Amino acid sequence: MRLGVNIDHIATLRQARRGRRPDPIEAAQVCERAGAHQIVCHVREDRRHIQETDVRRLKRTLRIPLNLEMSIAPEMVRLALAVRPNSATLVPERRQELTTEGGLDVSRLAGRLRRIVPAFAQAGIAVSLFIDPDPRQVRVAHELGVPSIELHTGRYAQANSTRAQARELRVLAQAATLGHQLGLVIAAGHGVDYDNAAPLARIAQIEELNIGFSIVSRAVFVGIDQAVREMLALVRRHGA
Ligand code: PXP
Repeated sequence: MRLGVNIDHIATLRQARRGRRPDPIEAAQVCERAGAHQIVCHVREDRRHIQETDVRRLKRTLRIPLNLEMSIAPEMVRLALAVRPNSATLVPERRQELTTEGGLDVSRLAGRLRRIVPAFAQAGIAVSLFIDPDPRQVRVAHELGVPSIELHTGRYAQANSTRAQARELRVLAQAATLGHQLGLVIAAGHGVDYDNAAPLARIAQIEELNIGFSIVSRAVFVGIDQAVREMLALVRRHGA
């Protein structure tokens, strides 16, 4: 099981004062030393946290892969093709949302994705599609020829009863199994924390968890090095 650490909220804190600290690149380097397998960041249309210069600095300095989360807006596509992160996770984006609220409707957007996916592949950027754990979306993602998908775990993370959580976990396991059978690499993320990560780590077909908010929140008390190490230990204890 690989752990991707999303550092957006280090930049959220920096942007609160529009200064230089805390520096998300410095944080990413600590995550790297703590054993994270990749760094994830999201340049949003409103630039509320990560800035374009952050992405360029991350690409220059990181030794582990950089996964750029991005919408499919033309300016983001141009940025990705210029910076060439190791991978790009295509997500839906709405200006008013606090965070990404659902998966990308790859079925509806198939026409645009058919143009973007090959352009990225040609630039050496592996594309992942952030989708709801819905068999139809998984099949369309496969048809689009991407190497991997990331399953949106938000409904699982927000389930307000044990029963609802077990149901959402089954939905995720089924989507992961289908994707795996189709030959896709399966990642998952959104709302994953120290209390709900273990059952996800036990789904054998999920190879990667991408986690941001809970790790940065924990870092406020124990530091980001320790917060990453704790999450790594947890997913290793429960995962393959
Ligand atoms: N994966 C994707 C595709 C996301 O959009 C996000 C949120 O930016 C995450 C993972 C991380 O979610 P969280 O911050 O809730 O851990």
